[in-house]
Amino acid sequence: MESELNPNDPKEFQDTDEDIAEKGKKEQALLDQRLRDWYTVDEQTWSEAQEVVPGSGIWVYRDVLPTDLDIIERLESVIDDPNNDYYYRDAMVGYSMKMPEYRDCVDFKYKRSDIDDDKSEHGDILRALADDVTHRQLQAVKDYTRRYNIGELRYWEATNYIRYYEGQHFQEHHDHGYSYNCVVSIVAFPKEGFEGGELYFRLQNVKIKPKAGDIYIFPSNFMYPHRAMPVTSGTKYSMVTMLDYSDKFHKPEFFEETGS
Ligand SMILES: [Fe+2]
Repeated sequence: MESELNPNDPKEFQDTDEDIAEKGKKEQALLDQRLRDWYTVDEQTWSEAQEVVPGSGIWVYRDVLPTDLDIIERLESVIDDPNNDYYYRDAMVGYSMKMPEYRDCVDFKYKRSDIDDDKSEHGDILRALADDVTHRQLQAVKDYTRRYNIGELRYWEATNYIRYYEGQHFQEHHDHGYSYNCVVSIVAFPKEGFEGGELYFRLQNVKIKPKAGDIYIFPSNFMYPHRAMPVTSGTKYSMVTMLDYSDKFHKPEFFEETGS
């Protein structure tokens, strides 16, 4: 049967082996740097750390991403500009499936190595933003891993910047296993200006009212199903990053396949 080109089929845009090898090299350099920072930098980037319910394993680190970092303003100065390829997309679930009844927000996802070749002002802004965010979050992650003796979480999925308008939501899911292998998840709230949009963990019966600047760190596995409740007014932004320690699922050819 004759195949037709389908612009919506991700296979049409698969990278060559050389592209994947090149991406793997950049990714490795990034991991090496992150591991150096893991061992050589020790800085408290939060004002307060607290387990939200004793024994839950869900921790809040307050003021890790303070509003004067202007995270969303910096991000949107780039992705609102029509003169580049950076833009919010309809958020997907699992392996690039669009399911608006399940998740109806938009998102923009990138890791620093994705934009290495962009030497424009836009690339500079995104690189600096990734550095600021990763540095401050990494310090809190290190504190979390020490509490539970987890070890180095050297694999960081691209940070997903998510925008929810009024009424938008993300139904219950857990983070590990479907399209990405991760041990620990970070959810951050970089900006004020909305009501609703609570982060709800059903099994722990924890409903979190987001506060700008705070990040939440929690286990990614099936015991931590969570949802983003509908926003009742305003615009909510969140940032999600998933972390892992195992080499097994993070070879360049594997993360190319998952798009992570
Ligand atoms: Fe999640």
